[in-house]
Amino acid sequence: MIALVRRWFGAGEATLSEATPRDSAALSRLHAMSFQRGWSEAEFERLLLDRSVLVDRAAFGRELAGFIMSRRAVDEAEILSVAVAPPRRRRGLAGRLLMLHLRKLAGHGVRRVFLEVDEGNVAARRLYRRAGFLEVGRRKEYYREAAGAPATALVLRRDLA
Ligand SMILES: CC(C)(COP(=O)(O)OP(=O)(O)OC[C@H]1O[C@@H](n2cnc3c(N)ncnc32)[C@H](O)[C@@H]1OP(=O)(O)O)[C@@H](O)C(=O)NCCC(=O)NCCS
Repeated sequence: MIALVRRWFGAGEATLSEATPRDSAALSRLHAMSFQRGWSEAEFERLLLDRSVLVDRAAFGRELAGFIMSRRAVDEAEILSVAVAPPRRRRGLAGRLLMLHLRKLAGHGVRRVFLEVDEGNVAARRLYRRAGFLEVGRRKEYYREAAGAPATALVLRRDLA
């Protein structure tokens, strides 16, 4: 009964697990809530079928609440995307996903992880700083959105033991 009430009210811990192509539609919807340029269901399906791509998901019951995706090449990986559904943000979910993902990448033999983040994305920068990522480069005017000035991308790196 308590488990049922928790599920209704969305309380309790999210379950983290590896995503499969069956998650493509939900991942695409969540991505569209989080980024200006969305990725279609077909794009997610293609990525999830790629053996070099790893996607971990967080869910409360059947509700997809977040995901993180990376692509591996030999002993390096790039984090391609991370997002948490707006009502589930600021509760440590992205941090949990990121730490799990880094452990799994290390298990796959990855030694260095890279990513790009918009200089103005305070939440993402805090997330990565907390996880030990360091700035190793800058790409000026990298993000060009329809409105506003082009934004700088920071290139971050984290070495895995
Ligand atoms: C970035 C994002 C994934 C963070 O998800 P989250 O589950 O809210 O993150 P967490 O709760 O694990 O918090 C991670 C850190 O960011 C901080 N943070 C989260 N949201 C924040 C906000 N709006 N403003 C300032 N700091 C914020 C947290 O305080 C925490 O830092 P701390 O550990 O130093 O206190 C989420 O905001 C999101 O989906 N944004 C849209 C997509 C996006 O920008 N993705 C990153 C692209 S590189």
